Amino acid sequence: MNTATKAVRAAALENDLTRISGANARFLGAARRLLIDNAWVEARSGRTFDVRDPSSDRVIAHVAEGDAADIDLAVDAARRAFDDSDWSRMKPVDRERLLHRLADLIERDADDLAQLEALDNGKSVIIARHVDVKHAVEVWRYMAGWPTKLEGQTLPLSGSLVPGQEYVGLSQREPIGVVGAIIAWNFPLLLATWKAAPALAAGCTVVLKPAEETPLTALRLGELVVEAGFPKGVFNIVTGMGPTAGAALAAHAGVDKITFTGSTEVGRLIVRAAAGNMKKVTVELGGKSPTIVLDDAKVDQAIAGATSAIFFNQGQVCCAGSRLYVARRHFDTVMEGVAEQAKAMKIGPGLDTTSQLGPLVSATQRERVMKYVNEGLTDGARAIAGGRALSAPGYYVEPTVFTDVVESMSIVREEIFGPVVVAQPFDDLEAVARIANNSIYGLAASIWTADVSKVFRLASKLKAGTVWVNCHNVLDPAMPFGGYKQSGWGRELGREAVYSCLESKSLCINIAA
Ligand code: NAI
Ligand code: MG
Repeated sequence: MNTATKAVRAAALENDLTRISGANARFLGAARRLLIDNAWVEARSGRTFDVRDPSSDRVIAHVAEGDAADIDLAVDAARRAFDDSDWSRMKPVDRERLLHRLADLIERDADDLAQLEALDNGKSVIIARHVDVKHAVEVWRYMAGWPTKLEGQTLPLSGSLVPGQEYVGLSQREPIGVVGAIIAWNFPLLLATWKAAPALAAGCTVVLKPAEETPLTALRLGELVVEAGFPKGVFNIVTGMGPTAGAALAAHAGVDKITFTGSTEVGRLIVRAAAGNMKKVTVELGGKSPTIVLDDAKVDQAIAGATSAIFFNQGQVCCAGSRLYVARRHFDTVMEGVAEQAKAMKIGPGLDTTSQLGPLVSATQRERVMKYVNEGLTDGARAIAGGRALSAPGYYVEPTVFTDVVESMSIVREEIFGPVVVAQPFDDLEAVARIANNSIYGLAASIWTADVSKVFRLASKLKAGTVWVNCHNVLDPAMPFGGYKQSGWGRELGREAVYSCLESKSLCINIAA
């Protein structure tokens, strides 16, 4: 057992339930149920599934395993709430007040939520507190500003289809209806928020299916939704497996819009299932986002930026900077710097506040990541840092940096979704634009440079939904987020997320009649 493994094991043992807050101990102590019509109910089948702490592989909670029968009940509840309830009659300003009240409650319980997220996902409790929970609050507050601002338009008509008649044209916005949301495990509370907050702001009702790996903070959010006083049926949660509960939600004829975050493979299944009743669809899928360091970049800043672009959240980030392209004259310096930082990272459980890299979310994810790492090594890439899984009880993989890669390797082409970066040098802007765009994905990119003209020249060539300059992984509630190409359809956050939950209705009035 090497020193790193020993340290991880000691830390994992130390990660005891005694360190868990009273509120979380209570929450984990009882089997968690589904939220339907503001009531906590067991799955119809009576089945439950285990939730594990990724840092120790221990079972920490039991959660109801909903399936198609429970999805039916949840969609019916959401339908009733949408068609005929206090929710649909509620004034926009009262909807705003409810959304703010929910944000207040999340803020009140922020420490508990962060700890629960760290325990469930494996991520650092510091990140959970200062990124996941903090950003979730900001998104709820930002979305609370929208209900009172969903204005229509008066349309200046110039058609002359029917002579002698005169028309006034108006365009109104109305909520789409029932929104089904299926989310991934990398930012559980945050993704639940990204989906539910714009839908509720728009006046829709929601059925949420959290990822089976990380259902806990969504269920805590459900408790806060009830406490905040949302009318029954407005926000429902069915925990369960993808191929059963998830598939039933995506195919359900009572759902008007489906919004999904996860793999491109499942994204395709969602799109097919949605075709049955022509649901509106938003899908936010994988990525293989380039970090591009130009020849005039501040090298130290670029090294720190490229390192956190890939290793933040153990690389389990859809927009992670997983391909690193460096101007040839800085390549060796930058790679030495990134490798050094990777080797120095302290690996350990999320609840240890000194950990810099936590476990991956599941044993399956660790296997998936190690399959890629081993393929890379077999294909002839060179690991200048990392390259191994740790034999600790948790699902740890060393932060790994590959050089000597070529574009045909699977580690360069495919999303790994772990702490693994591949790096190549480049010679000019044309060359790096070509190589950066040589991907089926197009979620994000970052450019590191001091030259504003190069920013504009390169950014306009990149096929990516977000281009960061001298930063990476920066998200804001006001800034739309989503992908070109196979990274998805539609956008999360900002005005676009709210409008994707609204229908447009044209009203044409004959005023000559
Ligand atoms: P996944 O796409 O299978 O799971 C995401 C969600 O979809 C979960 O809630 C799951 O229960 C649900 N789901 C699975 N099968 C379904 C089906 N047939 N119908 C409806 N819903 C279904 O992702 P998974 O297996 O956890 O991870 C696999 C890979 O996907 C990762 O290695 C990564 O490359 C990518 N991924 C990308 C994410 C992103 O943020 N873009 C997030 C998570 C995973
Ligand atoms: Mg899957």
